[in-house]
Amino acid sequence: MSIHKVIIDTDPGVDDAAAILMALASPEIDVLGLTVVAGNVPLEDAAANACKIVGLSGRSDVPVHAGAPGPLVRDQVFGKYARIGAFGDDLVAGSGVRPADEHAVHFIVRKTREATEAGDPITICAIGPLTNIALALIQHPDVARGIRQVVSMGGAFTALGHRTPWAEFNIYADPHAAEIVYRSGVSVVVMPLDMTFQALFTQKHFERFAEEGGQAGAALFNLFSRFDRSDIDRFGRPGGPIHDATTIAWLIRPDLFKSRKAAVGVQVTGLTKGHTYADFHQKIAHVADATVVTDMDEAGFINLLIERISRYGRAAPPEAKLLGG
Ligand code: RIB
Ligand code: CA
Repeated sequence: MSIHKVIIDTDPGVDDAAAILMALASPEIDVLGLTVVAGNVPLEDAAANACKIVGLSGRSDVPVHAGAPGPLVRDQVFGKYARIGAFGDDLVAGSGVRPADEHAVHFIVRKTREATEAGDPITICAIGPLTNIALALIQHPDVARGIRQVVSMGGAFTALGHRTPWAEFNIYADPHAAEIVYRSGVSVVVMPLDMTFQALFTQKHFERFAEEGGQAGAALFNLFSRFDRSDIDRFGRPGGPIHDATTIAWLIRPDLFKSRKAAVGVQVTGLTKGHTYADFHQKIAHVADATVVTDMDEAGFINLLIERISRYGRAAPPEAKLLGG
């Protein structure tokens, strides 16, 4: 089994919670730390949510580092559920985990330089706006040598955007950061809405989290039950996506996904800021340097996520609290 050394850069975020818990339950993933960025919610709330998730996982060995409080250039926007703010104790139990003193960008720089020294570059799973990663690359371009790949949940190519008709949220929230990462020369794996929309989770899946996943599963049941992500008009069937967990699933079971190479770009100003485009047929760019993940096995992904969350149920205390329970 190959083990991926991973920094998860995140803006928790309900689907971030599922991705982080999935990673922390998977032996194929060695989570070096969480770096937190403002996105779904303001930075302070995102960091508090990340700490609660780490506490829930029982992996207090995994550090949480707060990072950029806002985008590089554009005005700040938050997620559809920004009112969530910090997860209430009724949804996710509090924990003694607190953010480390070291800034997220400094942690990324330090760990990627260590990786370069060790000749073992690391993966950055970017499941929020790309601000922290862009700052690391701008301030210290040498860190690119310590990054094996940036696996970025973000963008939309054949799908319409969901934050605006033309943009996916993570890229829309900081398009300049995305442009810096896309142009950095680092290997980028883009996991866009085109693909994440292919797997829709319904209440019966959330009930499986609660039944099998101990306190962690109960917390996910609470979060996904409270914040409905379904959109029958858009998807034509019940359920909603868990975007961020696809990055972890791709590392564990790449066979569940299809991808193709393309040059990718992003609009950084104007009405269509945040719009991403991929030159799948080499019309304007001759270096197809990004990997765009275009398709997934819906049942395979859903079953993998549920199975990994169920691992928390095997050693979990009985006092898992459910909404309405
Ligand atoms: O567009 C979906 C992405 O935006 C996810 O990462 C979600 O958590 C939000 O950050
Ligand atoms: Ca996210």
